[in-house]
Amino acid sequence: MKKSRVVDRTRLQALKISEIRSSTTEFNLYLDVGSDIIPYAQGIHQWSVAEKRQLLKQGQFILLYAREDAERVSQYLETSPAEPLGPLQPNTPVELLISDGIAEFLKTRYTYPLSVKQALSFKSLAAALQEYLERHPELGILLWRLHEHDAYTYYHSARVAAYAVGISAALQPDEPGKLWDLALGSFLHDVGNINVDAKLLQRAGPLQPKEWDQIRKHPDESMQLLSGVALNPFVKEIILHHHERMDGGGYPHRLPGGELPLEVRIVSFAEVFAALTQPRQYQTRRTIEAALHLIESSLLNFLDPHLLDSLLTLLDQNQVKEDKTPPSLS
Ligand SMILES: [Fe+2]
Repeated sequence: MKKSRVVDRTRLQALKISEIRSSTTEFNLYLDVGSDIIPYAQGIHQWSVAEKRQLLKQGQFILLYAREDAERVSQYLETSPAEPLGPLQPNTPVELLISDGIAEFLKTRYTYPLSVKQALSFKSLAAALQEYLERHPELGILLWRLHEHDAYTYYHSARVAAYAVGISAALQPDEPGKLWDLALGSFLHDVGNINVDAKLLQRAGPLQPKEWDQIRKHPDESMQLLSGVALNPFVKEIILHHHERMDGGGYPHRLPGGELPLEVRIVSFAEVFAALTQPRQYQTRRTIEAALHLIESSLLNFLDPHLLDSLLTLLDQNQVKEDKTPPSLS
């Protein structure tokens, strides 16, 4: 593998290995190997399941491509047939599911630019998280059950984790807060959905009051499911209170914003942004601009308004809009 001479990490986006089909890709792909981005499958490349498994074994869960290729990549994803490795099938082994969740976490981080130093610390956090989840089979099994019950919630949680960590780093660049708590708390924050009827979680239309009651019990269900697991108090706070609102109108305890730790407010913010920018069965994906507009115009009574600036810094909107130059990849 040859090293790239100049790499602009802010111009890259990511695909999970599980999204690569066993067919031909015709765009340049790169690997993130720590402080370097190196060319991997360049031009026309024929993929096999064995090659993808080999990359996963090496801890390479994502591949990168230049932002300019985004349209070709989405066409590839739309037109290529489904695959044994992805999307993951029922009865996927727990380790593979955890690594695919970590892949989602890493992939989401490529929706915003980071300095090399921040990117390296994000990658170490991902590795530590994977190791922790694999070392705690009781958590692995819960996440596996969550994926079986509602795969959307599982991957959504990984995306929330990536945005929560990013918002914290943008808010306090020198001392980016309790990243571990944010990451682990986000991964586990909706695990209680296991005990909520999947049809309600996936329902497009409005819910009846009784159905809302069922949805609203998921933070308590999470605490119940995690009661035997030694988690630190901040992680538990995130899980129990991520649906509280700044105006005190949230659930389960109607706590006002002043009583919510920063980590909880960050995860609530990240959760809303992740939900708005991700397609669901009943909702097409909003652009980043549309999601930010909705948050600014109608959601700042619920969310901590101070965190909006951190999200904008994280997304580096000005740079993304203004920098139309192609990436310097070689
Ligand atoms: Fe939730």
